[in-house]
Amino acid sequence: MHSSERLLIRALRREDVPRAPVWLMRQAGRYLPEYRAVRAKAGGFLEMVKAPELAAEVTLQPVRRFGMDAAILFSDILVPLEAMGMPLLFDERGPVLPEPLREARHVDALEVVDPAATMGFVGDALRLTRAGLPDETALVGFCGAPFTLASYAVEGGTSRNYAHLRRLMYHETALFERLLDKLAEQVARHLDYQAACGAEALVLFDTWAAALTREDYLRHALPWTRRVFERCTAAVPRVVFGGAADHLLEDLAGVGADGVAVDHRTDLAGAFERTGGRLAVQGNLDPGALFAPPAEVARRTRALLESVAGRRGHVLNLGHGVMKETDPEAVGAFVRTALEFGGDA
Ligand code: CP3
Repeated sequence: MHSSERLLIRALRREDVPRAPVWLMRQAGRYLPEYRAVRAKAGGFLEMVKAPELAAEVTLQPVRRFGMDAAILFSDILVPLEAMGMPLLFDERGPVLPEPLREARHVDALEVVDPAATMGFVGDALRLTRAGLPDETALVGFCGAPFTLASYAVEGGTSRNYAHLRRLMYHETALFERLLDKLAEQVARHLDYQAACGAEALVLFDTWAAALTREDYLRHALPWTRRVFERCTAAVPRVVFGGAADHLLEDLAGVGADGVAVDHRTDLAGAFERTGGRLAVQGNLDPGALFAPPAEVARRTRALLESVAGRRGHVLNLGHGVMKETDPEAVGAFVRTALEFGGDA
């Protein structure tokens, strides 16, 4: 089968498809007992990411169990920051960067690197995953957007207030922009590298975009998001994800992506209207709804699909990632409902 025939790719190109493709953000992870088993043996999260056989194995696990239409590579948006020279670790708090960038000399020391030379495990994991995937399942690569990566690099981890980042952004704007320049270049290279290694669609995660007002996003973040899509030359469909960024939907629709991912606070049919029918739209069941009984998950999934039935370019997903306390049965109900929709339903 030629990759252009895979359902996800056809939907992202807004071709006529028999049903909406379905996959889930964070579909590989701790809610799956088979993931926890691999993780217990591997030692840690980053160890798994850097061991191509293990990364491929956990990427394949949810596809094996649920049969969704796409697999997203098991990795993390912070991996390129480590390759650029920033120490990175993951503990109970989540990601930690113990040497955050606060001064010019830190930003200047950050190196734009060749992904093949520094992150070969990403390419190896993509190739191994492709070899293990069913023919009809698409393989998705991803990267963090420059602003979201800058938030981790400057704050040193996940942040509530982004105090250091905002100080840099407002007081040392030129330095902040030098950082975003470097990140945009690295991100574009990373996306192209993944496409060269077999990723058939790419997602750019600007998870913390919604920390900014529209004015600040347009001034301090969006130009670099757009630059990534300009510099990334891979001929595969590209999706931009803005977290809870309802106030940025129209702007994100204009950064050069083929599709925009919306979270569950945005009305899905409204998102098609607001983007003028020019883009694919990914989303947007509330990940919290997966705590409901399977029948209720199925009902909500059907309602969502019905609300945009007949529109080109819908990719069913959650509004954000699967939470670790989720019952796999709920994910099963979500995927099954999507696979059965359209055909005879
Ligand atoms: O299944 C998949 O979605 C593929 C793999 C994937 C991970 N992280 C694995 C992961 C992807 C696409 C990401 C992207 C990512 N990482 C984002 C953007 C997407 C989003 O969720 O908004 C962000 C902001 C990160 C940064 C990050 N990594 C955080 C905040 C955390 C801690 C939160 C948590 O869930 O623990 C991580 C760790 C992480 N990344 C885990 C996984 C499976 C948990 C690691 C573990 O097993 O302990």
